[in-house]
Amino acid sequence: MSSVSATTVPVPAPKTFRVKSFGCQMNVYDGERMAELLAADGMAPAADGDDADLVVLNTCHIREKATEKVYSDIGRIVKDAKREDGAAPLIAVAGCVAQAEGDEIMARAPAVKVVVGPQSYHRLPEMVAQAASGQRATETDMPAEAKFAALPKRRKSAPTAFLTVQEGCDKFCTYCVVPYTRGAEISRPFADLVEEAKLLVAGGAREITLLGQNVNAWTGEDEKGRKVGLDGLARALADDPDLQRIRYTTSHPNDMTDGLIAAHGEIEKLMPFLHLPVQAGNDRVLKAMNRSHTAESYMRLLERIRAARPDIALSGDFIVGFPGETDAEFEDTLRLVDAVGYAQAFSFKYSPRPGTPAATMEDHIPASVMDERLQRLQAALNRDQMAFNAASVGRTCEVLVERRGKLDGQWLGKSPWLQSVHFIGEAEIGSMVRVELVEAGPNSIAGRLL
Ligand code: 5AD
Ligand code: SF4
Repeated sequence: MSSVSATTVPVPAPKTFRVKSFGCQMNVYDGERMAELLAADGMAPAADGDDADLVVLNTCHIREKATEKVYSDIGRIVKDAKREDGAAPLIAVAGCVAQAEGDEIMARAPAVKVVVGPQSYHRLPEMVAQAASGQRATETDMPAEAKFAALPKRRKSAPTAFLTVQEGCDKFCTYCVVPYTRGAEISRPFADLVEEAKLLVAGGAREITLLGQNVNAWTGEDEKGRKVGLDGLARALADDPDLQRIRYTTSHPNDMTDGLIAAHGEIEKLMPFLHLPVQAGNDRVLKAMNRSHTAESYMRLLERIRAARPDIALSGDFIVGFPGETDAEFEDTLRLVDAVGYAQAFSFKYSPRPGTPAATMEDHIPASVMDERLQRLQAALNRDQMAFNAASVGRTCEVLVERRGKLDGQWLGKSPWLQSVHFIGEAEIGSMVRVELVEAGPNSIAGRLL
């Protein structure tokens, strides 16, 4: 939908902007692209601590708490502005809340002048201009692929960079809003991705994380017109001698192809880390979630992945308290966690999302039960994360240096297994150094520079 609503008082065209991204890594990527777009349009990023003329809230709709945050943020921006010179910044709401609740935001929050969905943000500059001239603007169309072609080319980047290769989801897990807010699965063309990766590397990126809601469903045609999957794309990117590391996230178990599994044993630059959400360990619950895999098929898949890359670090997502989940069914999740031994994982209490099938299912689980289950699950996941880190002590590995630490001469970076590593010595940002892992904590590891 695209609309122009109620006329408001014109304001001077904004000169400075701030983009605040919430939620997943794709939102971080989108936020960077919006900032590039506004900069190409002549606006400047507001300096730290300064008020911006335009604030873009790049929102997340995945769970209820994330959504509530948008309204409290809008309230705070308006209140802060009132306390100073009275000139409120122009507020634009982008991201998945904009997509799902655009009309409601426009009705509830008069301070918001622009609402733009995740597939239309290439139109942000013209919408901002329109809003400044006094007309609020909404754009929540979902034209596949138009956005990327309309964005300016990437310029500078950090040692690690995100690259969106795939967007949207056709899986329709019954709890999830993503298929509604991000739309159907689309893969960006191979050539565009190779080009964007080159620009990122030229700007200083040494590690690229390929992003997609179902990143391993990516398909395309390589330069010879051959159909390739994500493994083919990774292979092409790995040819760039200045790119050291490739990662990808998030994957669906059903899209782990033989080729991609094999790639973990074959492409040296493909890091030994895989985020492969399972959500629950009980087959009745998995079916009610419409996950289309079982606990056992997931375990068998992990066996094959581990056969290809024995040291792979596994990560996952979990939901506790899905409607109807019994104590015994929840115990199956704990059993699966014990069997896998995750290196890290994310776990959440089920949160009903408007418009999803699970929201209207029966037997919603009381908050106190969800709290208790989440505590037990997180205790098990924390234990396994600590065990994984402890087991890495004594290993020697490369660390990609990302930034300075708090202590004098201290540097921070990541191990191949995505652990945060800190060490003291001579290094520079963007360099790869050899480190012996000497002491493990729950969230980071101390290294000794070799
Ligand atoms: N309630 C709780 N967690 C959810 N997730 C997605 N939708 C919901 C929901 N309605 C979690 C899943 C997903 C991760 C990104 O967020 O675990 O993998
Ligand atoms: Fe949501 Fe399921 Fe798609 Fe993941 S696979 S984005 S959980 S619908």
